Amino acid sequence: MYRTHNCGEIRKSDIGKQVVLSGWVQKLRDKGFMIWVDLRDRYGISQLIFDEQRTSKDLLNQAKSLGREFVIQVSGEVIERASKNQNIATGDVEILVKDLEILNSSTTPPFTIENNTDGGEELRMKYRYLDIRREPIKNNLILRHQITQQVRKYLSNNSFIEVETPCLIKSTPEGARDFIVPSRINEGEFYALPQSPQTFKQLLMVAGLDKYFQIVKCFRDEDLRADRQPEFTQIDCEMAFVEQDDILKTFEGLIVDIFKKIKNIDIDPFPKMTYDQAIEKYGTDKPDIRFGMEFVDLNDVSQHKDFNVFNSAELVIGISVTGGNSMTRKEIDKYIEWLKTPQIGAMGMVYIRCNDDGVYKSSVDKFYDQSDLKNIADKTNSIKGDIIMILSGDKDVVRAQLSALRLEIAKNLGLRNSEEYAPLWVVDFPLLSWNEDENKFHAMHHPFTSPKPDQIGLLKKDPGSVKANAYDLVINGNEIGGGSIRIHDKNIQQEMFNCLGFTKDEAEEQFGFLMNAFKYGAPPHGGIAFGLDRLVAILGGSETIRDFIAFPKNNSGRDVMIDSPSKISKEQLKELKLKQNL
Ligand code: AMO
Repeated sequence: MYRTHNCGEIRKSDIGKQVVLSGWVQKLRDKGFMIWVDLRDRYGISQLIFDEQRTSKDLLNQAKSLGREFVIQVSGEVIERASKNQNIATGDVEILVKDLEILNSSTTPPFTIENNTDGGEELRMKYRYLDIRREPIKNNLILRHQITQQVRKYLSNNSFIEVETPCLIKSTPEGARDFIVPSRINEGEFYALPQSPQTFKQLLMVAGLDKYFQIVKCFRDEDLRADRQPEFTQIDCEMAFVEQDDILKTFEGLIVDIFKKIKNIDIDPFPKMTYDQAIEKYGTDKPDIRFGMEFVDLNDVSQHKDFNVFNSAELVIGISVTGGNSMTRKEIDKYIEWLKTPQIGAMGMVYIRCNDDGVYKSSVDKFYDQSDLKNIADKTNSIKGDIIMILSGDKDVVRAQLSALRLEIAKNLGLRNSEEYAPLWVVDFPLLSWNEDENKFHAMHHPFTSPKPDQIGLLKKDPGSVKANAYDLVINGNEIGGGSIRIHDKNIQQEMFNCLGFTKDEAEEQFGFLMNAFKYGAPPHGGIAFGLDRLVAILGGSETIRDFIAFPKNNSGRDVMIDSPSKISKEQLKELKLKQNL
């Protein structure tokens, strides 16, 4: 028997008991005649004591030969500690070791395996199995497990059934590039890995399964960021005979349930905002509504003077920063410099200080008198002590820039508190978005998304203006989920393909299987998919999903631990009839 207890469970009430423990040596303190060892396993840390007087010199010498991360088994007696450690659950006791067996030795690990490690990110990724021994990463994986368990429980209790769909499929159009897998037995042909199980879950609705879910790996070949991995996990769901409100209600229930069961947090009903409102007020379709600083359109109060920068702009827009007048000139200049970096690309920023004596002081005093500035202050609801920051330019560009500024200021003012949660439904997305480069429409969500029923007529006349029955769940400015009510009528689906520039043959070749299925009685249906990695990260107080994935890829899409992607042998290439470096 390797153990009677784990390293995290021994308490004062166990004093006097004989126990056997197994685990890893985290730390050794050698006082010569006495040695303490911190023994770690998944459950915690127990302190071992080797004492020349109470045990034997041989045993003490054996303990001296231990190194960090050795795997050992010990047996001994639980005794009360002379100096207690309030920071760990086992801190009242220690084990007076009577017997020690080294189960495996370890070379010195490349970084310290403690909560605050000295290991850099790349090194920790290379030795991920060592990183996972550390409490923070281990706890992230446990959190992920708890959330997936709760998701399964909630959805199963609500009559959803989990169905697995294939990984070797044909391309699914979710907007990214596919990962491709060559087929050996079908020469010259390729599978694609699913960007999502979208078409399959719709087919399961045609099949009459009514409520489906799957916790499923998805693969997208796209640029990576802190919240994006080439392979990630979705909580993918679909329901038949539903309208948008049914979906929002069901899945708001899921998210509320997870927050309650996992974090014991009660969340208020989620507010709803249309896509257009989100863009106008926050300059993004995923606004962080934990704080204000909503955008105010200032065209009418700013374009009547000789200030050409504003006069020539499509949009002049500002935010009021509560208490922001306490910012120093240096701090403001830093924001201006930051706005001018290529990543943001603004030309500059105008600001108005609302001084405590009621006087306004702006960076454009030459053009605007006190009454002009007061009009702007009133329009932005600014009072003494606030500062107004104003950008101008082309509508889409300037909104994106001000959105970035809003988040940067909020971050610096500590308004993005990771313990506070502000979910939001964003609804009524446009159905299509115009792609300048390709000179054609793209589906904003995906091609199976239904237009709002009253706008189907517009598809032919003015496709760009059509709103979709599509929705996103945003939490703290992160897109956590997205979905839509689907088209279930094959004629409307055909019309959608027309809008997207597919010829009848192309649509038939790519999606014939779905169109064909729709001939056999497709029920009205809709669904949603949540990014599990993002949801877990948010609940874990972070926006970096890598830390919540057991074996993630780095920013170049590499698994540095197994060194993948990698070349394959000439034989494999030959077998697949592929040529290297075509
Ligand atoms: P969508 O493309 O919006 O919808 O994806 C759903 C959710 O998946 C997460 N996500 C990602 N997470 C990590 N890394 C990525 N590369 C990544 N890409 C997406 C996001 C996102 O909200 N089939 C539709 C869903 C539907 O219509 O039901 C779909 O995949 O949190």
